[in-house]
Amino acid sequence: MDRLVLEGGVPLKGHVTVSGAKNAALPCLAATLLSAETVTLRHLPAVSDIRTMVKVLQALGCEAQIEKDEDGFELTAVLGAHDLEGSGLRAPYDLVKTMRASILVLGPLLARYGRASVSLPGGCAIGARPVNLHLEALERMGAVIAIDKGYVEAHVPGGKLHGIDHTFEKVSVGATENLLMAAALAEGTTVLRNAAVEPEIGDLAAMLMEMGARIDGLDTPTLTIHGVEALHGCDHAVIPDRIEAGTFLCAVAAAGGDVVLDRIVPDHVRSLIDLLERAGCAFTERQGQNGMQLRVQREPGQRLRARDVATAPYPGFPTDLQAQVMAVLTQASGISVIKETIFENRFQHAMELERLGANLRIDGGTALVAGPSPLTGCTVMATDLRASATLVIAGLVAQGQTIVDRIYHLDRGYAGLERKLQALGARIQRQGGGSV
Ligand code: UD1
Repeated sequence: MDRLVLEGGVPLKGHVTVSGAKNAALPCLAATLLSAETVTLRHLPAVSDIRTMVKVLQALGCEAQIEKDEDGFELTAVLGAHDLEGSGLRAPYDLVKTMRASILVLGPLLARYGRASVSLPGGCAIGARPVNLHLEALERMGAVIAIDKGYVEAHVPGGKLHGIDHTFEKVSVGATENLLMAAALAEGTTVLRNAAVEPEIGDLAAMLMEMGARIDGLDTPTLTIHGVEALHGCDHAVIPDRIEAGTFLCAVAAAGGDVVLDRIVPDHVRSLIDLLERAGCAFTERQGQNGMQLRVQREPGQRLRARDVATAPYPGFPTDLQAQVMAVLTQASGISVIKETIFENRFQHAMELERLGANLRIDGGTALVAGPSPLTGCTVMATDLRASATLVIAGLVAQGQTIVDRIYHLDRGYAGLERKLQALGARIQRQGGGSV
C-alpha cells in the first residue's frame, strides 16, 4: 500500500497549475448518459474517482476512450452512450461502494430509458450520507422506486418523467445535480427550489446547455428546466478544482512561502481567501495566459492569527476545506473555533493531527484549535480524502519525518499531489510505487 514520506520545515515556492475539478467532472461524466451522441470531456483530473466513474459508465454499456495529457495530471475522455439498452442499465455494488457519486447515474438513466438499477452507496467515513432527497424528488417526477437486495430499483410507468415544482427540504449538491439531469429530458417544466449553487452545478448546467438543454436561473437557488425531446453531443472542458486550489493555499499558509496558482477561479475560493487574509496571508490576483492567477504569500517567520470558521453550503466556507484549514490554524496564535455544519462525523483528522502535536478539543460539531503548536513528524493514517490532504499539510510543517499511510484516499481526489508539491520545493516522496 502506498504511503507518503515528508520532511517538513521547507517553505513552498514557485508555480502550480490547478487541475480540473473532480466534483464537476463526476456529474459531467454521468450527464453523458443523457445523449446517444459522442461527448468529449476535457480537463478531467487524473484521479481514481474519475476512473471509477468511467468504469460505472462502461458497465452501463458506454464506450470510453481516455487519454492522459503530457504531464499526467489531466485526462480527456471521448464517451459514447449510443445504446445502453442491452447492458441491463445496472450500476453494480463493487463500483458504487468505492464511490458514492455513482448515484448520479440514476437521474440520467431514468430520464432517457425510464428504468435503472443502482446499488445503494452505503455509509461513509464522514457521516451517514443518505440519498433520500434524490429519491423523493425522482418519485415526484413519476418514478416508482423500491429498494431490493441493496439496489435502488426504479422504473417510470409510461416511460417518461414529468416536470414538477419541487422544494428540496435541505440543500444537497448531489440531489440538485441528479434532478437537473433528470429534468433536462423530462416532459414539461421542472422548477427546483432551494437548489445548491456550488460552482460544480453551474458547470454541469453549462454542459447540459451545450447539449441542448433549456435551463433558467443559473447560479441561483431556483432552477427552471424546460424538458427537451433529446440532447446532442458536446465538447466540454470542466472548471478548475476549487478544493485542490484551496488545499494549496492552505499548504502555503501553514508551511509559509510564495506560490502562484495558475488556472484558478479566485471567486470560487473567496471564503477561504478572506479567512487566510484575516489570519495574515497576502494575496494578489491577476489575469494570466491560462486563466486567472492567484499569488499567496506568507513569510516563514510571520505569525498567523487565530480565526473562527463555520462550514456552510456555497458561497459559505466549504466542508471539503475544513480539515485543511484546521492544519493551518494549528499554526495561528490564539484559539480558533471551527464549526462543521454539513457532515456529522468530519473531525477524524483531529486525532491524527494531535499525534503530530496539535492542541485540539472536539465537542460534537465544534473543534477548538489552540496555537501555535510546534508539530513533530510521526506516522499518521489517512481516514478519508480531505483528511489525507490535511495530514500532508501538517507534514509540510512538522519537524522531522512524517509518514502518511493509506493514501489511496488521497489518490481518489488529488492528481499527483506529491509531484506538484515537489515542484514547489517540498521534500515529499511516494513509497510503494503505485500510480493512479
Ligand atoms: C458533494 C461533494 C462533497 C461535498 C458535499 C458538500 C461531490 C461528488 N461530492 O457531496 O465532496 O463534501 O457535496 O459540499 O460533489 N443529505 C441528505 N439526503 C440526501 C442527500 C444529502 O440528508 O439525499 C445531506 C447529507 O447527509 C449532508 C448534506 O445533505 O449532511 C449535504 O450533502 P450533499 O450536498 O448531498 O453532498 P454530496 O452531494 O453527497
